[in-house]
Amino acid sequence: MCGIVGYVGTKQAVPILIRGLRALEYRGYDSAGIAVYDNGVVQVRKRNGRIDHLEAFVGERPLRGTLGIGHTRWATHGQPSNENAHPHADCTGDHVVVHNGIIENYAELRDELKAQGHRFTSETDTEVVAHLIEALYDGDLVNTVRRAAARLEGAYALVAMSRQEPDKIVAVKRASPLIIGLGEGENFLASDIPALLPYTRRVIPLEEEEMAVLTSDGVKLIRLDGTPVTRAPMWVNWDPVQAERGGYEHFMLKEIHEQPQAVRDTLSGRINRSGDGVLLDGVHLDPEWVRGLRSVYLVACGTAYHAGLIGGRLIERLAGIPVWNEVASEFRSRDPLIDERTLFVAISQSGETADTLSALREARRRGARILAVTNVVGSSVAREADDVVYTWAGPEIAVASTKAYTTQVVALALLALRLAEITGHTGEQERRDLLEALRFLSEALEQALELEEDVRAIGERTRTWRDAFFIGRGLDYFSALEGQLKLKEISYIHAEAYPAGELKHGTLALIEPGTPVIALMTQPDQREKMISNIEEVRARGADVLLIARQDLAGVDRHAQTTLMLPAVHPLLMPVVAAVPLQLLAYYAAVTRGADVDKPRNLAKSVTVE
Ligand code: F6R
Repeated sequence: MCGIVGYVGTKQAVPILIRGLRALEYRGYDSAGIAVYDNGVVQVRKRNGRIDHLEAFVGERPLRGTLGIGHTRWATHGQPSNENAHPHADCTGDHVVVHNGIIENYAELRDELKAQGHRFTSETDTEVVAHLIEALYDGDLVNTVRRAAARLEGAYALVAMSRQEPDKIVAVKRASPLIIGLGEGENFLASDIPALLPYTRRVIPLEEEEMAVLTSDGVKLIRLDGTPVTRAPMWVNWDPVQAERGGYEHFMLKEIHEQPQAVRDTLSGRINRSGDGVLLDGVHLDPEWVRGLRSVYLVACGTAYHAGLIGGRLIERLAGIPVWNEVASEFRSRDPLIDERTLFVAISQSGETADTLSALREARRRGARILAVTNVVGSSVAREADDVVYTWAGPEIAVASTKAYTTQVVALALLALRLAEITGHTGEQERRDLLEALRFLSEALEQALELEEDVRAIGERTRTWRDAFFIGRGLDYFSALEGQLKLKEISYIHAEAYPAGELKHGTLALIEPGTPVIALMTQPDQREKMISNIEEVRARGADVLLIARQDLAGVDRHAQTTLMLPAVHPLLMPVVAAVPLQLLAYYAAVTRGADVDKPRNLAKSVTVE
């Protein structure tokens, strides 16, 4: 995710940049840095760790100047470290850039620039941009940045400054946010509004494929094709706390809404150009070894475990390898059948969960190869693994996991497809279809978010709920598990999930008039059986909320309330189904006055066993 700030004016830039970075720390906090034009040179200060570290460092080695840029990082390419912290400079130190997002073709560009003699000092995708600007520089920074942007593939926001033109900052927006703040004799930019609020409330959000050129006496907007743009500024009247959450009431709601982007980022650069293969640069599996695999273990806790259940089904189905799913805290108690022919997949948003780490170490002792799916570059799980697939969800602040979960499922789908390419268990056309469906997943998530108003109304009805049951078959059972956990965790309503066909073996006894039952029906091949199970609970008076794929015609007559989900590939429906389930938990918690972002008794990262 990362946060960017910039300032040009007459005041000292350093305190403005540091304060701006603090307001953006929620976007990433593994390292931070600033660059300031100071006495004829662009001086860079950057430090691993939080903004406090950077501030202390700048205290030891002060900078003076009235133009500068800054960055707080959430690592994607390269570990958190002083070297990988932004800003990044070219060989001469003249051109300096900060960047938020992913440059998909950075490896090709780096090879090309290295061949021209450029020397790289970091592992980041960002550094190529500084060298590219150096290589293309023609005495006009604006023009050069535009030509550089034309060579960059991916989703990003980019800000550059140059010793050769020390009166301006040049910014580009492509899919990642950038907001310009307008002052008197000074101008600002930032990834988000909270960083601007102490200075100005007059802002211009950049639109896609736009550039901005900031000087102290004005801001020029230009499209990347060179056409000038005029747009009136907006006035922001948020309070600073609300602004940090992007105007949302809670981080959880903000993170639910960030899912289309998080999924887009997680897929970014990972599907090859011909649309038939998966590129996972942190995974180095020997195809011969994969073909001889005895099993894949997917081990995790809580929500990550639920993502693993879905991932496991996908791996089995697509790659034809037997899968074991296990809750991490139980893993060691079963004396697992693990050896050198086992791939052990640890799934963890934080990468620091103690139960998951112990299971990983146990699997390592028994000879398994370890693959991590995690959201935090450089986390313990990532460091101890042989292979890593990062979810690029950005920092997740709310205790209840949302965007980490959906991106875990996406990362596991990519892994399943990669394994399937190797084993050949699934034909090329089927793999292509799923890859194509992945491309459209973000759009489906956007459509699913349009259900919010309907779910809010249902949330109000939960005021009287004491117990709720979630039912589903196949992949929908796994979504049911995640739905009940989310509801329990933040609204404190007792909830249970069951395979829909299992209710009649005992739990049906608990269904009485008015009992809420949330039934999931997103798998076309389960339609008839699910209808029978829904009728079983309705016959006992249950109040059924059906969450169904919209092309399953006629199913709504079986429930009192129905939410229709956009249709995507059945194997990806759990990603889309997560949205109303998360929103239901969220609005139930809000209705019942619970502390949504910090539910009682829980912590974001559980580092004890
Ligand atoms: C629930 C939730 C937890 C985590 C679990 C694992 O909303 O967030 O169940 O999923 O504690 O955490 P990580 O993924 O950090 O290992």
